[in-house]
Amino acid sequence: MNTALESLDLLAPEAIADPYSFLAETRRRPGLTWSSRHKAWVATRHGDVTALLRDPRLTANRVGTYLRKHGESPGAQAAATFYRVAQEWMSLKEGADHSRLRSLVQRAFSPRVVKDMASLVVELSDEFVDTFPVGEPFDLLERFAFPLPATVIAGMLGVPVEDRDRFKQWSQGLSALVFAASDVADRHESAARATDELSAYIADLIAEREVSPRDDLISHLIEAGSKQDKLTHLEIVAHAILLLFAGHETTTNLICNSVVALLANPSAADALRSGDVDAGMAVEELLRYDSPAKTVIRVALEDVEVAGTRVPEGDRILLIQSAANRDPGVFADPDVLDLTRANAGAHTSFGSGPHYCLGAPLARLEARLALPILLRRTEGLALAGDLSWQPNLLTRGLERLDVTISGLKSKGLSDG
Ligand code: HEM
Repeated sequence: MNTALESLDLLAPEAIADPYSFLAETRRRPGLTWSSRHKAWVATRHGDVTALLRDPRLTANRVGTYLRKHGESPGAQAAATFYRVAQEWMSLKEGADHSRLRSLVQRAFSPRVVKDMASLVVELSDEFVDTFPVGEPFDLLERFAFPLPATVIAGMLGVPVEDRDRFKQWSQGLSALVFAASDVADRHESAARATDELSAYIADLIAEREVSPRDDLISHLIEAGSKQDKLTHLEIVAHAILLLFAGHETTTNLICNSVVALLANPSAADALRSGDVDAGMAVEELLRYDSPAKTVIRVALEDVEVAGTRVPEGDRILLIQSAANRDPGVFADPDVLDLTRANAGAHTSFGSGPHYCLGAPLARLEARLALPILLRRTEGLALAGDLSWQPNLLTRGLERLDVTISGLKSKGLSDG
């Protein structure tokens, strides 16, 4: 008997390495499945996951629920500063509080602001590719997939480029707690430290922008709203942290997971390189095929019945996007990467309903521009090491992505 499967241990090595095979059997079972390992219900079918994402009887505020139960625990006490900031995040609010924050932040993060990033994304992609060594292994995550979204979002917020390595450290400090990594012993302390340092850094930026506003997100967050309803100082700090953090970790993983999928499917890579497939459509399929977002957590606000299963008030439900994205009832041959798949956009990778990813247009823009540049400008791109996936419950990302290339085309030569 496979005990990991029996207890539905989503952090078991086989579940981390290949969540798709691990969850296929669960998706065939009726109703929701109880995970004794995570003490939560698990939803894996596309219909259940999308319905639950939109269900107002569930809340996204798992932090509030956690603090009500475990607020006095040493971990929660150690990470008190982190929880104080996180509780301001729109991603944990519901109803009118959520709509208010989302619309104020959305004003700063408008489609125009995102569209204006296109030339920067192209410029940075080329700049990072230029640094690749030919004929010796290098970490593509470190050289390309991390710095690209990190620099874009830091630039949008108005953070100077030279500070971006500090952001990586702060981001790592936060991610172990936010993304539910199991194996990081000091995750509460490092999240608290990162929150303190980031908050102080952003408070300085706010103070500068209050005196001399610029065309950046911090200035827009300060300006957003009316005299009666503005974001408070703490709300601005919290959302700057949320955008910085949400804005690169997941996009880094989208780029790396896409490269892995394309290297395993050379004809798909050729089609994207040559422009035979639409890059925007290809990105939807890549998001479906190996989503950087694996699971979203909800908590039942009342007793609910889902797909024939009764979920008592207060219970947690894990909505497994990676299983929903491979549901054969929705996607034909779901385990095949098909960059021309007509309904790839029905994936759940950006969520659904009121909390639908605010940064989806930016993530799509970055992947749509960066992946073709990477493919066109490198020759002989190949894996140069084993893949090691981070042991997280919520995201799917690599620890590193070692590759080699046999040649590099200059910018002009790769066009067309
Ligand atoms: C491929 C990259 C990305 C993926 C897969 C992703 C995924 C998600 C998902 C699944 C949610 C919904 C969570 C829930 O329902 O509880 C979400 C929400 C959110 N995302 Fe993203 N995200 C990505 C990139 C970004 C970027 C680039 C930004 C901003 C710069 C961003 C900002 C946000 C914010 C602010 C929310 C909260 C929205 C709300 O609660 O109303 N994300 N994201």
